[in-house]
Amino acid sequence: MNAITLALTGASGAPYALRLLECLVQADYRVYLLASSAARVVLKTEQGLDWPASPQALSAQLCADFGARAGQIVACGKEEWFSPVASGSAAPKQMVVCPCSMGTVSAIAHGASENLIERAADVVIKERGQLILVPRETPFSAIHLENMLSLARLGVTIMPAAPGFYHEPRSIDDLVDFMVARILDHLGVAHTLCQRWGYAPSRDE
Ligand SMILES: Cc1cc2nc3c(=O)[nH]c(=O)nc-3n(C[C@H](O)[C@H](O)[C@H](O)COP(=O)(O)O)c2cc1C
Repeated sequence: MNAITLALTGASGAPYALRLLECLVQADYRVYLLASSAARVVLKTEQGLDWPASPQALSAQLCADFGARAGQIVACGKEEWFSPVASGSAAPKQMVVCPCSMGTVSAIAHGASENLIERAADVVIKERGQLILVPRETPFSAIHLENMLSLARLGVTIMPAAPGFYHEPRSIDDLVDFMVARILDHLGVAHTLCQRWGYAPSRDE
């Protein structure tokens, strides 16, 4: 089974993370799921979700909610240093931070590694795996931009939560799927979430 690390941080955009998790489970990935304290506040604010504090309880709840097999979604605590994602010898080669706060962008850019999200990202960078950040803030300050530039120069993919409108979205779900489709494309996960560029029907058809 393919494995991936999915981290949620405290930027706006919880629906992207939930849809991405759903797609990764459907694609039969084992997902190591990390959520910062601020991500939990955003999940409550944007989705009305109250995730359990215990990683074991959260794993069980998410497996049930997303129709995953037992053990397919593995939630990890923020100081769970013995988690596979904390070491280059065991960590998945792919990681997405979605949504990614400016605070976490900064911490990753500076190699802080003070919690499991920052450490897991540091591991993926040092092991030359694939790290995708989905930042959301507006406007960006020069600090944000410099941090993202440093990361891009290290090979990190900076994929701002900035859905397009050329696929003629009719709903928020369409906008969410646009972003998630682009993330899945970069991960190499097949999907049918959105029509591709050049294939969108015109409004007259
Ligand atoms: C509802 C809500 C929305 C937020 N939206 C953003 C955002 O879009 N971008 C951002 O960088 N921070 C945002 N923040 C602030 C971050 O959550 C805050 O800086 C936090 O310390 C980030 O911590 P983390 O990186 O550990 O998740 C938001 C906070 C809340 C409560």
